Amino acid sequence: MTKQLFIKTFGCQMNEYDSEKIVDVLKESSKISLTESPDHADIIILNTCSIRERAEVKVYSDLGRYRKLKENNPNIRIAVGGCVASQEGENIIKRAPYVDLVFGPQTLHRLPSLLKKRELLGTPQIDITFPEIEKFDSLPITQFKGPSASVSIMEGCSKYCSFCVVPYTRGEEISRPLDDILDEIIELTMIGVQEITLLGQNVNAYRGQSQHNGVCDFATLLEYVAEINEVKRIRFTTSHPNEMTEELIACFGKINKLSKQFHLPIQSGSDRVLSAMKRNYTVLEYKSIIKKLKKVCPEISLTSDFIIGFPNETDEEFNQTKKIMEEVNFDYSFSFLYSPRPGTPASFIKDNISKEKKESRLREFQDMNIIQGKKHTLNMIGTKQRILIDRESKRKAGIFLGKTDNNRVIEVDGSSEILNKFVNVKIKAISEKNLEGIIIS
Ligand code: SAH
Ligand code: F3S
Repeated sequence: MTKQLFIKTFGCQMNEYDSEKIVDVLKESSKISLTESPDHADIIILNTCSIRERAEVKVYSDLGRYRKLKENNPNIRIAVGGCVASQEGENIIKRAPYVDLVFGPQTLHRLPSLLKKRELLGTPQIDITFPEIEKFDSLPITQFKGPSASVSIMEGCSKYCSFCVVPYTRGEEISRPLDDILDEIIELTMIGVQEITLLGQNVNAYRGQSQHNGVCDFATLLEYVAEINEVKRIRFTTSHPNEMTEELIACFGKINKLSKQFHLPIQSGSDRVLSAMKRNYTVLEYKSIIKKLKKVCPEISLTSDFIIGFPNETDEEFNQTKKIMEEVNFDYSFSFLYSPRPGTPASFIKDNISKEKKESRLREFQDMNIIQGKKHTLNMIGTKQRILIDRESKRKAGIFLGKTDNNRVIEVDGSSEILNKFVNVKIKAISEKNLEGIIIS
């Protein structure tokens, strides 16, 4: 009998990637179809995030709702995966005894066997170990889901920024071997994928085993991927300023397939705060990387992450953060209110800044970000852009949508022939939500 699976994903692109793999793994082991609503599900999976407190609170409130479903139908299986699972482990079962499975980001491939064990033993199963690279060896081949696909190249993080839980929930940095990554990309191109996003918490810390010359770094990996003919555009996220090499910067000048877009989290414009965050770079060092990037690729779109309201951040330090956003002229930024995470060094710092003050700073910063981003969007009118058409508009017949290098969605008139293809467009106008373009080749 076909089982209905409901899966809800919180958090980052890594989690979205993991959720896709969870579905693939379960589909391979039994008859599964996806449902949009937990009310109709036989299996409910929450793939969780614990990067900020709000994400974690949401998990427990969702579980509270699923509890009622399980009371009505004890055959429902509820699984919690991802970073909250990794951090909380059996506490989840203590707090929510109706949960059947708890699995971590590195053990999702074991889900079918965990489900089986749950049926055999009748007790909740927990597996939040870090069996290194085993996960990737056990994942089934992906089905075509569109012309873009993500490939995880490394897991975990060994940077231990003072505010961050990732090193604890996802483990230390570990890179996949070069050949495994290239094989996966080639398989994807064989089913029609043309755009690859290389994923990892710190992709530029990549150091993978390679058959020919020992260890391969990230810049070299990019060159290998670019060699694959059928790959037409390469993206990657996220990078760390401390892992920038001259070779990686040079890639933006010489690899045409590399999207002219770069996400480099800075977090703060104050050296005092950066040092308290344990980021291990200064604002000047960050700016010097940007200068070099702009030299090899003047049109590069730069984006960043910021944490607003780190403990004891002064008005002056906040002003420095606003200043760096304007100075680098980021295309757009993601900004978050600092959230103390249990066990992290920053969570022990005594903080003298009120919540209201932090929230008003965040609003001010995000308003600035919207205005700055709009300016960048307006500047695109009249330019030529290469977009990958990945869907037809649901609202307007005959309108197709595709993304530019800097992730703006462009609407063009066309027929289904252009679907899943790269086209060159000239940007004409700004519409309600997106930009409008016309195809020029
Ligand atoms: N690997 C990436 C970041 C992963 S987490 C890097 O190199 O920085 C994504 C973003 O979440 C971070 O860049 C940071 O801005 C934010 N973040 C992480 N921990 C946080 C916390 N405790 N409170 C608020 N924001 C946080
Ligand atoms: Fe977190 Fe810093 Fe790593 S933000 S993911 S510890 S680089």
